[in-house]
Amino acid sequence: MRPRELEPGLCEEHSRILSQVTVKPAEGDQLTGSESEDHGAPEPGEQMTVFEAAGGWEYFEALVDHFYDIVADDPVLAPLYPNDLTLPRLHTAQFLQQYWGGPGTYSEQRGHPRLRMRHMPFAIGQPERDAWLAAMRTAVDTVPMRPDLAEESQTAVRTLLHNYFEQASTALINQA
Ligand code: HEM
Repeated sequence: MRPRELEPGLCEEHSRILSQVTVKPAEGDQLTGSESEDHGAPEPGEQMTVFEAAGGWEYFEALVDHFYDIVADDPVLAPLYPNDLTLPRLHTAQFLQQYWGGPGTYSEQRGHPRLRMRHMPFAIGQPERDAWLAAMRTAVDTVPMRPDLAEESQTAVRTLLHNYFEQASTALINQA
């Protein structure tokens, strides 16, 4: 059976945590409300996606940039990737924004994600998975989310991301 966490769509746990996500009221001029409108924030009580909560494309692009900067200097990971990381950066950010409820550009341009199949050409054992996860953990803990997202909501979203990356990276191991 295909690991559920690799496929797009929100699971029950996502929904439960996201129903608790709150956005701080805009400071200053409440009437303009430009900050929340920019992110398409829902009305109070409505649910928002992780994509919206974290900060949209800008957040996922920054997350992936930080991650690949670590990859480029990592002795275990760098040899697996092409020298030019432009396309992996773009595709990974597009995949993540789609997975977490944003625009489906990844599948429009690349087709079904099939991440296990797409990773078959790369020998991924426990050391590669651990190095990958360590780099992504650092990125998740470092890259700021949208500043108007309440502290406890930021923690909830980070927990979702950490859990997903842990499970998905384990599911991509393809070498003993
Ligand atoms: C949560 C786990 C992971 C996710 C969500 C993920 C996601 C992706 C995505 C979306 C791509 C681009 C695929 C495409 O071109 O359409 C990619 C490429 C790649 N990933 Fe992962 N990946 C994960 C784990 C890993 C792990 C554990 C490794 C091994 C250390 C790895 C190594 C690679 C490599 C080498 C590429 C190819 C770069 C290229 O030649 O373009 N990934 N990954």
